Amino acid sequence: MLIFSIETSCDETAAAVVRGDLDRGSTAVLSNIVSSQVKIHAQWGGVVPNLAAREHLKNFPAVLDQALQEANVKIQDIDLVAVTQGPGLIPALLIGTNVAKTISYIHNKPLIGIHHIEGHIYANLAIGEPIADSELFPLVCLVVSGGHTQLVLMKNHMDYEIIGQTLDDAAGEAFDKAAKMMELGYPGGPVVSQRASKARDEKASAEGCELVKQMGDIHLPRPLLSQPNLDFSFSGLKTAALYFYRNLLKSDPENLEQWKNFICLAFEEAVVDVLVKKTLRAVKTYHPKTVMLAGGVAANAHLRRSLGEALAQHNSEVRYLQPLLEYCGDNAAMIGIAAFYRFKTMQNNNQLKQLDSKWKTLEADANLKLI
Ligand code: KG4
Ligand code: ZN
Repeated sequence: MLIFSIETSCDETAAAVVRGDLDRGSTAVLSNIVSSQVKIHAQWGGVVPNLAAREHLKNFPAVLDQALQEANVKIQDIDLVAVTQGPGLIPALLIGTNVAKTISYIHNKPLIGIHHIEGHIYANLAIGEPIADSELFPLVCLVVSGGHTQLVLMKNHMDYEIIGQTLDDAAGEAFDKAAKMMELGYPGGPVVSQRASKARDEKASAEGCELVKQMGDIHLPRPLLSQPNLDFSFSGLKTAALYFYRNLLKSDPENLEQWKNFICLAFEEAVVDVLVKKTLRAVKTYHPKTVMLAGGVAANAHLRRSLGEALAQHNSEVRYLQPLLEYCGDNAAMIGIAAFYRFKTMQNNNQLKQLDSKWKTLEADANLKLI
């Protein structure tokens, strides 16, 4: 079956075509077009919802055409339209859902609404080769994006239980705020991560240099790490980094740029340390067969490496999946893949008829819940 999927929950206008094989239970991404508005919003230091909606509207015709063309399919050949229903910015979601509803109505195709985080989770299955359900579940997914930080337990497809979550900032949001306070621009994750790896290299090669040694010794707190639960908190860490940075503005302004790199390193290490250790704790409690990483922060090289190494060391029997880099940030391929598994589940439950009238009833929901 062919799925035409759309994602506009934030500042990426995205469309994709995904082929799903219902017998094998596998998917292949035929096209995945993402038009990013990041340069426009960077001027404002964050995403401006109404501006995002205006840009989505402008970008959509070209993005939709390109997704179909690259996949070499015609709209008439599509079997299912899928769209991010929420959560996200309501002006942005409204554009995507209305485009999807219109396509569904005009071309008489069933329509399915997908939760944005469900999309991030299913990006892990963009691997072509099917994994038998009995080998995949139960699974624990560490979801780390700009708006969410959660540990999700799945015992089956489309069956979610939130076993841990942030009590304040999301991990991506923490990276963004850390970058903002050091005037490093928006979005913060990629730049903090680049500066951190620069500092990591410098630390490794600067034996004997007293200043670098001092910089390499910065230690930031690991909030909630010692508590025996699966929850996270990142706002205290951000405040600790802010105080450290403010002191430096007075005490060593000449070396500020180099200090910033080392604050980025200490910040990234603190965030990743907490994420990895809490995930290991979830593994110990729930004994999953698979651990997955999902969301924009899943692009972080230090997190990918650290989680992989920690699992190999402590839980080598667990399968570790992480999304390909092109499927970490917001994209529509992940929405198409999640739609395939939702469609398959609904087919097994004889519920497919519901999808025919969704063009009438589907509503964007800024606060849509995963469960
Ligand atoms: O999933 P996503 O694209 O959008 C939301 O659903 O929120 O995640 C965006 C977040 C931003 O906060 C961004 O700074 C962060 O992911 N991010 C990263 C990296 N790349 C993107 N954080 C840390 N390291 C990265 N390499
Ligand atoms: Zn996202």
